[in-house]
Order: sequence, then structure tokens, then C-alpha cells
Amino acid sequence: MTIAIVVLISGRGSNLQSIINAIDQGELPARIAAVISNEADALGLTRAQQAGIETRVLSHLGFANRNDYDLELRNLVAEYRPDLTVLAGFMRVLGPRFVSHFAGRIINVHPSLLPKYRGLNTHARALADGASEHGASVHFVTTDLDAGPIIIQTKVPIYEHDSPEILAERVLKQEHRILPQAIRWFAEDRLRICEGRVLLDGGTRSEQGLTSHLQ
Ligand code: GAR
Repeated sequence: MTIAIVVLISGRGSNLQSIINAIDQGELPARIAAVISNEADALGLTRAQQAGIETRVLSHLGFANRNDYDLELRNLVAEYRPDLTVLAGFMRVLGPRFVSHFAGRIINVHPSLLPKYRGLNTHARALADGASEHGASVHFVTTDLDAGPIIIQTKVPIYEHDSPEILAERVLKQEHRILPQAIRWFAEDRLRICEGRVLLDGGTRSEQGLTSHLQ
């Protein structure tokens, strides 16, 4: 089945591009119904337009509070009746007004091995800690920031002279791999959330202890 997805972005849109490419290459049974940005000058909007995808901008500026923005964004996303909403570099925290409405149908890509380094500046924080490895996660979104059930994670090594920028690039390459993979599993109806954990293929993998499908 081909699923309809809405992608939320705030900037560069390289993860959005990885989804567009996977669809173009016939690797992802999905159709991007719309790309929505909270920033009018997001490069990702240009990428979407070049791919012939409808774009919308809903700036967070001018809203009296977070709840009002969440409600407006929820209504905008709902117009497209998505099976799945994908946060691909969307740099706003979404509250219950948004998240509860789409529960189990929103995923986010995050540049760390969650639960490590929720929030911002993950690469600099991993380096400051002297960590030997870092990575990326795709998870279902809940009202707890970057704390929802993990679908897939991937590790990268940290080398001695890494800068945050070099490390970010290494992690980003993996994001471009695991985000389309997670969407594919969702489209193929292979994911279930059970007691706060993600089961792939009815839990066979999790029974083997691979609850986060670490690659
Ligand atoms: C990506 O590294 C993504 O994981 C991160 O922002 C970047 C967006 O890049 N997202 C977060 O930090 C969300 N908490 P992109 O616009 O090129 O896809």
C-alpha cells in the first residue's frame, strides 16, 4: 500500500531529500502529500518544489503561545489526511495538542543514540563527553521530548580529531539511510508499539533482544 506522508521541516531538508530520493527510486511505497515548514526561507521548501511537492509555511512567530501554534499546525497537517507525519529536521517542540491527535503516526529523526543527548547540540555534547561512539535514531513522537519508542538506531565511531561539524556529517549520512527505512517499515505495516517499545514484525526481533533494531 502507498501511504500518504506529510513532512515537517525547518531548514536544509537533506533528510527530506533522502525520502524524495527513496520514493523516486521505487524503494518507498509512499507519496509526500505536503512539506510544511515553520521557516519561510527553509532550503527544504525549494527541494520540495523542485520535486513537484506542495509546500506550506506556518511560522511560529505571532502565536500567543505554543498551544495555539500546535493547534493551527495540527489543522494544517490534517488537511492532507496523512497516514504518517515525519519530522525531518523540524526544530520546534510539539505539545499534546498536536501529538495526541496523531498518536502512533508521527516519527522523528534525531542526531544521537537516544536516550543519550535529547535536545540540541548533540554532536558537541558527545565530543565534550569524550564519547567513543555516537549515532542517529528514528523514533515515534510522544509528548516527552525525544523520548518516544525507538524504531531504528545506527552507530558511528568518534575519531580523535573530530569537530562537531565532521561528526554531524558522519551521522547525517546514517540519518539518510535509517529515516527512509523506518518509513518503509511503517508503510509495510511492520511496526507495532507495545508497552512503550517498538516491535518489528510482531516482535520476533525484539524477542531476540533487538528492541531498537540497532544497525
Ligand atoms: C538533522 O541532523 C536532524 O536529525 C536534526 O536536524 C538536522 C536537520 O537536517 N534534527 C533535530 O535535531 C531535531 N531534534 P536536514 O534539514 O538537512 O534534514
